Amino acid sequence: MTVQNRFEGKSVIVTGAASGIGRATALRLGEEGADVVLLDIDEEGLNSAAKILTDMDRQGHTRVVDLSQGSEACRAAIDFGVQKLGKLDVLCNIAGIAKARHFSDVTDAEWDRMMAINLSAVFFGSQAALPHLIATQGNIVNMSSTAALDGQIYNAVYCATKAGVLQMTKALAIELASKKVRVNAVCPGTVMTPLVENFELPEDPDMQLMSRMFSLLDPAQPEEIASAVAYLASDEARFVSGISFAIDGAQSAG
Ligand SMILES: NC(=O)c1ccc[n+]([C@@H]2O[C@H](COP(=O)([O-])OP(=O)(O)OC[C@H]3O[C@@H](n4cnc5c(N)ncnc54)[C@H](O)[C@@H]3O)[C@@H](O)[C@H]2O)c1
Repeated sequence: MTVQNRFEGKSVIVTGAASGIGRATALRLGEEGADVVLLDIDEEGLNSAAKILTDMDRQGHTRVVDLSQGSEACRAAIDFGVQKLGKLDVLCNIAGIAKARHFSDVTDAEWDRMMAINLSAVFFGSQAALPHLIATQGNIVNMSSTAALDGQIYNAVYCATKAGVLQMTKALAIELASKKVRVNAVCPGTVMTPLVENFELPEDPDMQLMSRMFSLLDPAQPEEIASAVAYLASDEARFVSGISFAIDGAQSAG
């Protein structure tokens, strides 16, 4: 793989940067020259990713934030990032959780938590970042999912959050085009991260319907998703906005 230098002089904030796709994205953009603010609830994971960035002579600032804690917490984390970096070129909203449940077993608290982390935090963070992205003609990359494209059994809440992220992405892409701010969503299928490795099936699952969630190619590695994020966030994608970029081993092909 040839790593380019598309992010020299660019300032980036990545949520979910302690693990999986978020971590791979922070490191990929850093390898390509970016200074990065890493946000996550997992302090140890943040520190280990930031060390790799600083070893590459990039800025790697960390802030522990629980993105389920609402508007103030999300906005403060973005403000911290902009203050550290002095400007903002790219916001990657990647943090997320998943939990398979029979629909009737989902509690109000589970609904609220998944909505807060997967959807509301994307709204709060993007709104806080907006004036800074307008100033740099920057862009946002949101991590949606194939769960936004097709219904998935035992995943009704997750599907709702990821479809929300996707439609917010498209609406915002239209609204911000005149400001030259781009907004895109990536829709991965199965990616080998702790989210998938620790995925628990609900009781008595219907495996035939579960199989509709499987990719036809071998699952992706987080670095393969990060490389798509890097493309979308780079100036090479100047004409790309409002897309849902499915990377799913033909899962959603039909
Ligand atoms: N792995 C997959 O197959 C897959 C497929 C489609 C979409 N996604 C999406 O990709 C994104 C990244 O997931 P991943 O697979 O890398 O999983 P992951 O578990 O490796 O990473 C998720 C990160 O989000 C962080 N996070 C969770 N709750 C948080 C909170 N309250 N506040 C702050 N940070 C929090 C975690 O600490 C973790 O570092 C998620 O939005 C997920 O829905 C993953």
